[in-house]
Amino acid sequence: MDRIVIQGGARLEGRIDISGAKNSALKLMAAALLTDEPVILTRMPRLADSRFLGHLLAKLGVEVSERDDAQLSLHAATITDTFAPYDLVRKMRASFNVLGPLLAREGHARVSLPGGCAIGARPVDLHLKALKALGAEIEIAEGYVSAKAPKGGLVGAEIDLPFASVGATEHAMLAAALARGETVIENAAREPEIGDLADCLTAMGATIEGAGSSTIRIQGQPRLTGVTHKVVADRIETATYALAVAAAGGDAVLDGAVLAHNKALWSSMHEAGVTVEAVEGGVRIARNGSRLNSVDIETQPFPGFPTDAQAQFMALMSMATGSSVIRETIFENRFMHAPELARLGADITVHGNEAVVRGVERLRGAPVMATDLRASVSLVIAGLAAEGETVVNRVYHLDRGFERLEAKLSGCGAKIERLPGSA
Ligand code: UD1
Repeated sequence: MDRIVIQGGARLEGRIDISGAKNSALKLMAAALLTDEPVILTRMPRLADSRFLGHLLAKLGVEVSERDDAQLSLHAATITDTFAPYDLVRKMRASFNVLGPLLAREGHARVSLPGGCAIGARPVDLHLKALKALGAEIEIAEGYVSAKAPKGGLVGAEIDLPFASVGATEHAMLAAALARGETVIENAAREPEIGDLADCLTAMGATIEGAGSSTIRIQGQPRLTGVTHKVVADRIETATYALAVAAAGGDAVLDGAVLAHNKALWSSMHEAGVTVEAVEGGVRIARNGSRLNSVDIETQPFPGFPTDAQAQFMALMSMATGSSVIRETIFENRFMHAPELARLGADITVHGNEAVVRGVERLRGAPVMATDLRASVSLVIAGLAAEGETVVNRVYHLDRGFERLEAKLSGCGAKIERLPGSA
């Protein structure tokens, strides 16, 4: 297994190119199942997670071809298989999102229950609730969901989500785009990735109103067309590099980042003493010299503070003056980075869903272990700011969601490299 080795202490200066959003790209890939015409995704991030989903789509009959210039073409001329086996779904939860499109287009599907990060139970009850509302008959047996649409296909319906789940909202949108009549999703998630999916489905011929608000209306169509769609910029990658610059010190522009997609984070960073401003083509982050103020945060669905940036923010707070309280409300087991940050000298106490971070003057490099996707990058951030050498083991977690991480950071002056082999 590869390792990442960081010599801490270098300031980050320059520009970092922000990739397309992993979380959006995965749902856009699933949308390709809805049409027999090619779906071309540009600014497509190259990640282990998108490769996994590509393998699954290929198994279902989709022609998948990737180009060097971040363009992915998906052509589901005919669906040859509606079975998504455990092997291909367990590695990545978002693969479960093929269920709705298969059901909508082919009338039936059998998909393994998902795996994914070890950050909580993460059931799929809301996804199934949405598909049932559209008329699907669903059975769960031996770890598989078998679903069948009514004779004439899925039928538009009102779907009231008890929690604004991102995945369930997207799954409902995907299926509803090919259902007969109108679907209304109440208490829909409002994340920017929802807007991106709505834009893509609209360009494919669906009529969608209200994406980005709590009520989304979708007029399903009997047939959708192909599309060329540019994936929205990754707001979590943006947050990660912004926090890296803040932690290590420096002045960098995040090219392609959208200021409006991270307002809650910017306001916490601003309170901490970091400069954040919109500049032509992106967002500038700067921090000079002095120690930062500690800031309390609580993760919330969008537009609140994103759970996917919580670990990275904790890394920053571990070097602030005073104490900060970090409350995680989305996932129940998302502080696995805390004991790893402690190896670098961070002073963190976790009680249930709350972590108290007492800032220390400096962190010192140490060997650490990545535990999940976002946790692993928080260790990279801490390592960039720490004195001496940090070795992050098990970096396959990082490869799931961060494209060319070492290249992007070393391009700004970080001393970071990947070493092949295990530890
Ligand atoms: C997506 C993101 C993930 C992010 C999360 C919250 C992708 C691929 N992943 O995950 O990076 O951390 O949004 O912003 O887009 N829940 C249920 N039943 C369900 C579905 C969800 O109880 O059927 C619960 C989950 O266990 C969790 C909470 O709802 O506690 C939030 O989950 P959800 O918003 O669905 O996140 P994901 O779509 O899985």
